[in-house]
Amino acid sequence: MPVREIIQLGHPALRTPAGAVGEAELRSDEIQTLIDDMLETMREAGGVGLAAPQIGVPLQLFVYLAVDVDRSREDAEEKVLVNPAIEPEAGEPVYDWEGCLSISDLRGLVPRPQAVRVHALDRHGTKLDFRAADYEARIIQHEFDHLNGIVFLDRMRDLRSLAFGAEWERYMTDDEDEEAETRTDTDDEVRADT
Ligand code: NI
Repeated sequence: MPVREIIQLGHPALRTPAGAVGEAELRSDEIQTLIDDMLETMREAGGVGLAAPQIGVPLQLFVYLAVDVDRSREDAEEKVLVNPAIEPEAGEPVYDWEGCLSISDLRGLVPRPQAVRVHALDRHGTKLDFRAADYEARIIQHEFDHLNGIVFLDRMRDLRSLAFGAEWERYMTDDEDEEAETRTDTDDEVRADT
């Protein structure tokens, strides 16, 4: 399965809303191969999510790893969402760090609803209806935004938290804390780019 090129911010495809995938189109070899390639590309890039527009394909389709703090990335389930619709749950937005495979090396604090209800199709065309919370909800919202030409920078309320990876590791994480010393690798991994 070939790895596809991940396009970077400034490419107009990242700002172009994607179109819905047709039922017959979803079953085609072309789309099934595209999905396999996207999963491979995401894994190869060390990311936890990848939307079709990020490889220049204007379709409402994304893949992600359903990571959480209790599971390592290796154990995380690979998910494929086609033609998704999301309803945020009410409540105060939660801030957490995000990065993006199309905005190399930058991270910033992004407010998002803590949980969402998701309606979508899986890769076989089966209807999905589920609730996602916490980091999975964040990944889903980040990838959903890509389908609408939106990137995480657009969602930031204060650009002063923006940092490059090395500076983020050095100044923005709380590795000096006692709590951080007991933190597992998983915690850093879930902050991987999407
Ligand atoms: Ni992204």
